[in-house]
Amino acid sequence: MLLSKTLVRPVSRNADTPDDRAALQTAADLIRRGGLVVFPTETVYGLGANGLDENAARAIYAAKGRPQNNPLILHLSDASEIPLYCDVPEKIKPLLEKLTSLMPAPLTVILPAKPVVPKTITAGLPNVAVRVPTSKIARELIRLAGVPIAAPSANLSGKPSPTCARHVLQDMDGRADMVLDGGDCTYGVESTIITLCEEFPTLLRPGGVTFEQLDGLLGEVHMSHAVLESLKPGEAVLSPGMMYKHYAPARPVELIKGDRAKGIAYVNECAKEQAAAVLCYDADAPQIKAKAVLHAGGDDNTGAYAARIFTMLRDTDSLDVDKVYAFLPKDTSGISLAVYNRLLRAAGFHVKEF
Ligand code: TXA
Ligand code: MG
Repeated sequence: MLLSKTLVRPVSRNADTPDDRAALQTAADLIRRGGLVVFPTETVYGLGANGLDENAARAIYAAKGRPQNNPLILHLSDASEIPLYCDVPEKIKPLLEKLTSLMPAPLTVILPAKPVVPKTITAGLPNVAVRVPTSKIARELIRLAGVPIAAPSANLSGKPSPTCARHVLQDMDGRADMVLDGGDCTYGVESTIITLCEEFPTLLRPGGVTFEQLDGLLGEVHMSHAVLESLKPGEAVLSPGMMYKHYAPARPVELIKGDRAKGIAYVNECAKEQAAAVLCYDADAPQIKAKAVLHAGGDDNTGAYAARIFTMLRDTDSLDVDKVYAFLPKDTSGISLAVYNRLLRAAGFHVKEF
């Protein structure tokens, strides 16, 4: 049992028991009254508020310590609601239709915003991000609230996104009115973000819906260079979230790329000098001689690494170590691109290559 100042209620994955209904109704009432409710999605936990209420949205920024110029995603219970909040020019209709055929999904689409969307949500941009989560708990909450729910990840700004209620409470206890505890999130990394507001559909953040999937579906998809490269000082970005240091644990992180045997030898050498935590593939774990070894799963299954990445990064905060080392996936295909992108940001692009 979690002891907390914020009301915490368990909800089962299918959101269909009488207790689930009661918890969801309480949460939906809170949202309608302008409150903040943390809810699980298939990606990470979200800090939700009424997406049509300026004041409720402002409370999200305050609770997270989020910069005012970083806009929020509007969560909808069904893709048919997209035209209520977005203007869809004829030119992009066929592309949007293809994307909605995937929904619900861990996918966020950026489209021109209708005037009904508060400026606090878009941070004054002409576009709004919309997403229909796969999670039944999330969609049921939105349906019962009867309004779109604005929700960033439920972490303090800059910290790794929470993928379980324990991590939510580390950051949000006393800051949110209620937490719906739906257990561990399936994907563990935030939704894929694609914008249809550029000349070509452009991937802004990789996630569970892969670049290859989108490219196959839409014909030609570009990738923002900010997915794998650091920004130059003052450089303009398509997604304000790209400007900030993100996902960083308390200790500095160094990434290991390339030849694994050489990488292991390097980490073991470093770990003689300092207390280190190492995030590595299961098969390599027995060879690593460090104070803490955290298992990222098999190297043929980066989905497991994705599901654990934020948990592992957060858990290093409670270890008595000076430095964190993490092995990068061997390539950037499929979900590996998302793991790569999050690790690069957590490490401030500090990579040692062999
Ligand atoms: O999986 C997810 O997307 C989770 C769950 C809770 O749904 N949400 C999430 O929200 O990751 P957040 O706020 O942590 O990340 C949203 C990203 C930010 O980088 C933000 O800058 C970008 O989306 N974004 C939001 N609205 C945008 C817009 N209108 N134009 C460009 N980027 C936008
Ligand atoms: Mg976030």
